[in-house]
Amino acid sequence: MPSADTRPDTRAVHAGRADLRAMGVHVPPIDLSTTNPLPGVELGGDSYESLATGGLIPEGGSAVYQRLWNPTTARFEQALAELEGAEQAVAFSSGMAALTACLLAARAEGRGHVVAVRPLYGGTDHLLATGLLGTEVSWATAEEVDGAIRPDTGLVVVETPANPTLELIDLAALAARCGDVPLLVDNTFATPVLQQPIRHGATIVVHSATKYLGGHGDVLAGVVATNAEWAQKLRPVRAVTGGILHPLAAYLLHRGLQTLPLRVRHQSGSAGKLAIWLAEQPAVERVYYPGLPDCDPLGLVGRQMSGPGSVLTFSLRDGFAAAASAAERCELITHAVSLGGVDTLIQHPASLTHRPVAPEARPHPSLLRISVGLEDVEDLCEDLTRALA
Ligand SMILES: Cc1ncc(COP(=O)(O)O)c(C=O)c1O
Repeated sequence: MPSADTRPDTRAVHAGRADLRAMGVHVPPIDLSTTNPLPGVELGGDSYESLATGGLIPEGGSAVYQRLWNPTTARFEQALAELEGAEQAVAFSSGMAALTACLLAARAEGRGHVVAVRPLYGGTDHLLATGLLGTEVSWATAEEVDGAIRPDTGLVVVETPANPTLELIDLAALAARCGDVPLLVDNTFATPVLQQPIRHGATIVVHSATKYLGGHGDVLAGVVATNAEWAQKLRPVRAVTGGILHPLAAYLLHRGLQTLPLRVRHQSGSAGKLAIWLAEQPAVERVYYPGLPDCDPLGLVGRQMSGPGSVLTFSLRDGFAAAASAAERCELITHAVSLGGVDTLIQHPASLTHRPVAPEARPHPSLLRISVGLEDVEDLCEDLTRALA
């Protein structure tokens, strides 16, 4: 039975593994070849031509060179595409490399203008604001996007839930405002377990796979799930800029996908409890979490997302000094950037992940962001009680 015909939890376990039984193996092989034997000069050349222009390996052809194609990486791509309900996926050495390829592909077609909705991850905000890749950004609210689109607009870029304050965007309504301009959704916080943006009208879904997809804090990676046309545009950019994902990392990500639904749902359940607990703490001014009614005014949890996720942000009444002290005093919870792993992390967005953001759009200094892991939530509350005291 092809895994694409199964339910999502089954798909997560079996996607990208359909041929293993016939190969006589139980887990995917890891192919580390940087170069591959060529069947002949002509078919070798045809293989190169096809891969370098974004196509696949021709019948009887060769993968040629790891920067163009790798079977282990391709397996992860196939699995992730199935989970996102996408035609194809293209994997990169980081989330920022994935976003870079999307921007370069749009710009290569003469559509270097981007409309973007803040907040965004600080690195994404910085890349767009500096125009480092020759793109130009117009910042807009989700409701203003149609008015900001120009004839040379190549992408509309959003995150939902957004990093770090967890704002949610109604993707179907936004996709309608985008018209023919592809909507790019960073789905890192939700994962395909909670939200599949393509079903709501997005053309391109970007992940920092470093986060939940890997899930254990030991892989740096990015991936784009999209239609065949966009995947064909992204692969040549990846080939020429050298951003392909390493096969060992791809193997770990593919393995990580098997437990993704379990991890995401459990972590999301714990985050819900922690959000309610935090909201009751005298030191805490406000909690930002899509599972709290005031953070989901459009009722998107349950409609667009099947759960609120496991990142939450909170502000402290006593401002920056209190936030800094709480982050530094956590013992069980690690004071570190990143998110989506099995262990709980806390960090100060204004100083770290969102430091490069322009002052007017930077998160408030009283904010702390927590990525809730798989620990017992009682232990997390005890650690935070000590840290907030
Ligand atoms: C929402 C989001 N998108 C993209 C990125 C960038 O991904 P990477 O660090 O894998 O390059 C991050 C990193 O924190 C992120 O949080």
